[in-house]
Amino acid sequence: MSNQRTLSIIKPNAVKKNKIGLIIALLEEAKLKVVEVKMITLSVEKAESFYSEHKGKPFFNELIAFMTSGPLVIMALEGEDAINTNRKIMGATNPAEALEGTIRAKYGDGMTENAVHGSDGLESASRELKFFFG
Ligand code: CMP
Repeated sequence: MSNQRTLSIIKPNAVKKNKIGLIIALLEEAKLKVVEVKMITLSVEKAESFYSEHKGKPFFNELIAFMTSGPLVIMALEGEDAINTNRKIMGATNPAEALEGTIRAKYGDGMTENAVHGSDGLESASRELKFFFG
């Protein structure tokens, strides 16, 4: 597997709970390197654009309200097989189903408030990194 970059977002519930450092520690322990980082609060317009593939789904409005409810930490992560490594350490989308020790199992509060977002493939990683870091 080659060196890759992927996008990671620490969501508002985890930021509110003071878990930024603990989440980054898990990512770094998984050999992912934080190569870019910024803290921002998303506008509704930008959140809708980022999650446009989910528009029309039953959870879309709740997701947008949540993702614009407070600051986020946006990171570009780099490493060997970074996209899959990040997905593994994040755990399943639903924290109730996430394996013990994963970020979502530790810090997720529900399907929407699941602590982190990570790109799910090469194409989305490229699009999402461009979306936030140009
Ligand atoms: P995320 O990785 O940010 O991508 C889309 C988000 O939608 C997902 O994590 C969840 O937080 C949220 N979501 C809420 N309900 C669902 C659902 N039923 N299926 C998938 N994602 C959901």
